[in-house]
Amino acid sequence: MGYKIGLLGLGTVGTGTAEILLNCEGRHPLLKELEIYRVGVSSIDKPRQVQFAPGVLTTDLEAIATDPAIDIIIEVIGGLEPARSLILKAIAHGKHVVTANKAVISRYGDEIFSAANQAGVYVMLEASVGGGIPIIHPLKQSLGGNRIQCVTGIVNGTTNYILTRMQEEKGEFEAILADAQALGYAEADPSADVDGLDAGDKIAIIASLAFGGRIRLKDVHCEGIRHVSATEIAYADKLGFVIKLLAIAKSNPDSSLSVRVHPTLVPKNHPLASINGVYNAVFIEGEPIGQIMLYGRGAGAGPTASAVVGDILNLVGILKSGDASELHPLLSCSHEVYCEIS
Ligand code: HSE
Repeated sequence: MGYKIGLLGLGTVGTGTAEILLNCEGRHPLLKELEIYRVGVSSIDKPRQVQFAPGVLTTDLEAIATDPAIDIIIEVIGGLEPARSLILKAIAHGKHVVTANKAVISRYGDEIFSAANQAGVYVMLEASVGGGIPIIHPLKQSLGGNRIQCVTGIVNGTTNYILTRMQEEKGEFEAILADAQALGYAEADPSADVDGLDAGDKIAIIASLAFGGRIRLKDVHCEGIRHVSATEIAYADKLGFVIKLLAIAKSNPDSSLSVRVHPTLVPKNHPLASINGVYNAVFIEGEPIGQIMLYGRGAGAGPTASAVVGDILNLVGILKSGDASELHPLLSCSHEVYCEIS
């Protein structure tokens, strides 16, 4: 049985996702069972990197969210509306949803998950935090046997890029931001990134998963990097620190939680101090695992599309779980592999 996909949005992440799905040779075998059935865009005539058969592209996004032929909706429009309404509409029409939308999940997660529970569908959100780095699935599954004590992340690539360049070039925030915008590393309206709200949405999602509560953006203390100066970075450097915008979710001795985003002095010998440029990392401390760090590219077409497609595969795995042979590729491996270890 194949699965029909409705892709909402064909920007950077949507295009990256379509490229993987349309070119699945050498990737996971289940990808061959997926068909991009409709793609929702803002304009049909725009020149595009990916070509679709006539009739696949449409500007009627609501028609995709409600199309009875579609099994899975991928929401990569971003922003709050119409993304939230389309997700809810798709759920109400019995579709599973894969989304990269941290703002909708962090702020409207309750509404979305309760609608999904009622409709008996899944909402997958690995791509909403940390781009290509698997964070959601490890926190929910692989690390599920731990008591998480603290999660500390660099989860915004734009601000990490700006702080890294301020450190390397001894430059001031405004000048480096303007240059980052000219180079396409920062948005024309960079406020969600530089004021810490993007990182706030992400740590709200991480904290909810790590500590089992429901943390929303409004519960997170958010302070951005606008006021960080080259002089502060230089003094920090002399004292053996770098300044990073950290997103922290920490369980306190009285069982309360602190969830916050702010510029922080990080000792140069801490693993997070060496995360530079647009890279993200999440440093997790738990019992009994101790300390681990997940690291990689936190934004961009390829990394975020990798997380979206990973979610689709996990979803298809769940939907197919009646047939275990589909889920265990090693059991169905038909060719011999020779491996030399030197
Ligand atoms: N604006 C975000 C960042 C994009 O800079 O990390 C990925 O969520």
